[in-house]
Amino acid sequence: MSTVRLRFINKIPTAGNSLFLVSHINQLKETEFKKEEIRQVQHALERRHPITWFKDGPHVRIVAFEEGKPESWQTDEAWRKHAAKASSSCEEQGVASLTVRNLTGDPHVVTLVAEGLLLSCYRFLKYRTGSAYRPNTLKEIRLLKDEADEKAIHETELIATATLKARDLVNEPLSYLTAEQLSREIRAMGKEAGFKVQVFNKAQIKKLKMGGLLAVNQGSPNPPTFNILEWKPPRPRNKQPYVLVGKGVVFDTGGLSLKPTPGSMDMMKCDMAGAAAVACAIYAVARARLPVHVVGLIPATENRPGGNAYAPGDVLTMHNGTTVEVLNTDAEGRLILADALSYARRYRPQLVIDLATLTGAAARAIGPEGIVFMGTASEAVKKALSESGYRVYERLVEFPLWDEYENYLKSDIADIKNIGGPNAGAITAGMFLKKFTDYPWLHLDIAGPAFLDKPDGYRPKNGSGVGVRLLFDFLKNHVTR
Ligand code: BES
Ligand code: MN
Ligand code: ZN
Repeated sequence: MSTVRLRFINKIPTAGNSLFLVSHINQLKETEFKKEEIRQVQHALERRHPITWFKDGPHVRIVAFEEGKPESWQTDEAWRKHAAKASSSCEEQGVASLTVRNLTGDPHVVTLVAEGLLLSCYRFLKYRTGSAYRPNTLKEIRLLKDEADEKAIHETELIATATLKARDLVNEPLSYLTAEQLSREIRAMGKEAGFKVQVFNKAQIKKLKMGGLLAVNQGSPNPPTFNILEWKPPRPRNKQPYVLVGKGVVFDTGGLSLKPTPGSMDMMKCDMAGAAAVACAIYAVARARLPVHVVGLIPATENRPGGNAYAPGDVLTMHNGTTVEVLNTDAEGRLILADALSYARRYRPQLVIDLATLTGAAARAIGPEGIVFMGTASEAVKKALSESGYRVYERLVEFPLWDEYENYLKSDIADIKNIGGPNAGAITAGMFLKKFTDYPWLHLDIAGPAFLDKPDGYRPKNGSGVGVRLLFDFLKNHVTR
């Protein structure tokens, strides 16, 4: 997690470290900056360095410059990234407290910079001991009341906290985060934020005949759970709930169809990133008390090849009665999601969105830069989600669900099989899920951006927390209107 706190102040401090936000060089001329220093900033800009810093004895002054890009979402992201750079300068200098000085005249810039700073200061230190335990040096960010939008920043702080929680959950290894432990974490979040949590154990999952979740769990020494989260405010804007479904495979070995490529299993603790996004988004929505009725469904289990593991060729009967021939036990995500998607029908949902680290194919298609999505929701809903994606810079690209892909899932002996051919892997997974929906639905394949192999601005290496900011923005701006 992070130990950085935001603090609002009334007066400009006379000393200390500052981060100046500037959108035009003239803005520096009305401040304490010397002519020579302003020239230095200009030189840096000519060399395309948006960040310049000056050392005054024990303190630093950092200047972050952004004159604006063609699209507002590009400018917004530039400010977040500048904040990430400023934060690493602060770490190098051992800065503990930083005052943000907004010279741009636009309070929104402070919100973006606060967001970038908060998301940059994340560390996963739980398993570090002794001298390896190195928390970030930055502890306090001071913001001037007159220069910032306090309400927006409070909300941003809350969303950032939720995003960091999601990163923690994704970074937790299986040795800690079993399905049952994930349920305990969700319960604790529910208590803290005030949303309802119901956890079904294996016996209850059997009663519900969730054949997909039970089959995937068979080879594991640890039982599965099925988690229901619900945030229902007094007077929600939506009549029917929005249902969010998250893939909660706490570790994916591939099962008997053991992951074949060297190294491909190493990061499979991240296979519950969809679950983390759903739980943490609802946590943020509840803490912000958004007037929207949201339900979260999280099927959770390991996928392992132990004694009683399900086998290629097995035929499963799913929660909705559909039979599935399993031809690859590594295509497990769609099996547990299918049960959750058919369970979602009982809510008569206005919209269902599932998030899942579902296919390597999605990751190969567009890399960690975005989310592959598809589904049956209206064009208006797709557009709204897509706009949220640009706003929070978790961009989405739509893949088609053309009828012809149905043929890819034809089984010799059951209603469908759980894999298609070598082509269109992300889409056949989507087509499989579609069979279990009869309401407006969107599927988000986050296999690319969920777990990063190198840091990217304010996104650290490993768990990224992708989906939390996206879902919050969508639920706030689309649903509540
Ligand atoms: N959890 C994986 C997908 C994945 C791959 C997530 C890389 C994150 C990074 C999923 O369960 C899986 O194994 N998918 C298979 C499907 C195939 C067997 C049809 C895949 O993508 O190879
Ligand atoms: Mn798999
Ligand atoms: Zn998986």
